[in-house]
Amino acid sequence: MCGIIGYTGVNDAKKVIISGLHALEYRGYDSSGIAFNENNKIKIIKSKGKVSLLEDKLKNNNSISNVGIGHTRWATHGEPNEINAHPHKVGHTTVVHNGIIENYIDLKNKLKENYQFISETDTEVACALIDYCYSQKKDKLKALQEAKKEIIGSYALAIIFDDEPNVIYTIRKDSPLILAKKNNDCFLASDIAAILSFTNKYYILNPDEIAKIGNGKLIFYNDNLKEITKDINEYTGTINDVMKNGYKHFMLKEIFDEPTVYNNIINKYVPNYDVKDLEKNFGNFSKYEKITIIGCGSAYHAGMAAKSLFEEYANIEVNVEMASEYRYKKVIPNSKELIILISQSGETADTLEALRKAKSNQMDTLGIINVLSSSIARESDKVIYCLAGCEIAVATTKAYLAQLLILSLLSILMAYQRKEIDNNQANNYLKDLKLLLKNTQLILDNKDTYEKIAKKVYQDKEMFFIGRNIDYALCMEASLKMKEISYIHSEAYPAGELKHGTISLIEDNTLVTGIITKQNIAAKTISNLKETKARGSKILLVTTNSLYQDYQNDKFYQEIIIVDDINQFFVPLTIITTMQFLSYYVALYKGEDIDQPRNLAKSVTVE
Ligand code: F6R
Repeated sequence: MCGIIGYTGVNDAKKVIISGLHALEYRGYDSSGIAFNENNKIKIIKSKGKVSLLEDKLKNNNSISNVGIGHTRWATHGEPNEINAHPHKVGHTTVVHNGIIENYIDLKNKLKENYQFISETDTEVACALIDYCYSQKKDKLKALQEAKKEIIGSYALAIIFDDEPNVIYTIRKDSPLILAKKNNDCFLASDIAAILSFTNKYYILNPDEIAKIGNGKLIFYNDNLKEITKDINEYTGTINDVMKNGYKHFMLKEIFDEPTVYNNIINKYVPNYDVKDLEKNFGNFSKYEKITIIGCGSAYHAGMAAKSLFEEYANIEVNVEMASEYRYKKVIPNSKELIILISQSGETADTLEALRKAKSNQMDTLGIINVLSSSIARESDKVIYCLAGCEIAVATTKAYLAQLLILSLLSILMAYQRKEIDNNQANNYLKDLKLLLKNTQLILDNKDTYEKIAKKVYQDKEMFFIGRNIDYALCMEASLKMKEISYIHSEAYPAGELKHGTISLIEDNTLVTGIITKQNIAAKTISNLKETKARGSKILLVTTNSLYQDYQNDKFYQEIIIVDDINQFFVPLTIITTMQFLSYYVALYKGEDIDQPRNLAKSVTVE
């Protein structure tokens, strides 16, 4: 949600900030703005809409500036317009902000005697608070320390004071922020994507710290306002991770990254295709009698799919919760329950709070996280990284599949540790990882098949995805992918449940996609598909080669997608790659903004 960047150094700050904002745009894109030091005065330029519109506005500004802050917004308080866009200036202070100030109404009431507010935002209030604290304390570090005490909520704030226009101060709590220095250039940013063209080495600001950049220096202070040194982190990817590299969209590039991601996971966690590798890298889970998996959106869907695998193969009870629900429900502490938090960004506010709730109930927590050193990764008792690299498209593809692969591997490990399968059986399953790579590559090579189907259905107004058990969980993800980027209303439904009401929505030509990966429920789902066909639907069947052989004489479908056979742990992954392609091409034919769908943003750091 919202991206912030700050720069001080020897280059043109406007250029550095605009290029950083382009890289951060996936975090929010309804308006953007920049503040920079122009002849020792802070100049602010803002624009509604995408960063390219801000860039156009800056074209006529030829001033030289080496210090600036920038922001790309996903509106929380107030509609997207130039007044609500950041940076905000109040008194002698200018800020950009990512997060939510929860007590901004109280603060506004306290500050309204001294300040006039022009926007609807919480950020303007935080800016006034900092300005006020500085006017009282006459010391910037003490002012920021004081402001931190008053603010309730989440924030990463970059601040410029009028009387020190070459320096940027920064504080944060529960919103991500990194800092970096290369020669005389210093940066702060919401994430590494913004600065990768300069450096891959960065520092993480802790909530009890304050940092400042300027005059070639990056200085950290602890909560006693003493200067401290910090450990440096290194991002192992390259600038290519945040470039399209010839692909039309990041989403397409990221689908094509999937075999690389699988290889990363195999090489790191199970290089010898041996369950003992997994045990060494993931740990021992034999003490647990129950698992609760928590996530939002696609991460929740990964949990839903994994539930079937854990229950069926590891014979353990699994509960899957949406993080936004879990955080407000009664939790019964259980020392034999493992709480698994799934998150690509590692910053999703609801998932982070669900983690904190589980920990406050003394439960063991395991994060399955993509972004290294993110808040959920740092606060979980244990972390397994997804190794999917930077994911830029708002709709997740490779990161979702990385989550699902890690969960599948974990279910094999737990089946082994709970003595449901022996060493040989576990290793037989793991051997299929080679087949997973081969089958996925075949799907990528056959992308035209999915494009052709998309061409036939992209004008549809409504779609259904139906399946049973794990296939239903796959339908949930396929349906979300379709609706979020193509804006076609789509519903995932358990195949057997449709007839209890929802089937009334089926009309002539309604597309019903049936996902079938399991022999024991194939006939049942096929009957349900036929029930919709009898009411006029057209059918897309998505299934495996061997199930197709079983039913090939019964041509009840108009379109078919067949994936090659592989064991039950990995077949969901190949099915989802085909569904990602389908939604990608539907959105492409519709001419939608695939990487930045309306109303959305990646990394939802607000409740
Ligand atoms: C859908 C999508 C979202 C995220 C959800 C959780 O394509 O990307 O549903 O999966 O917002 O985000 P993370 O995984 O960052 O916690």
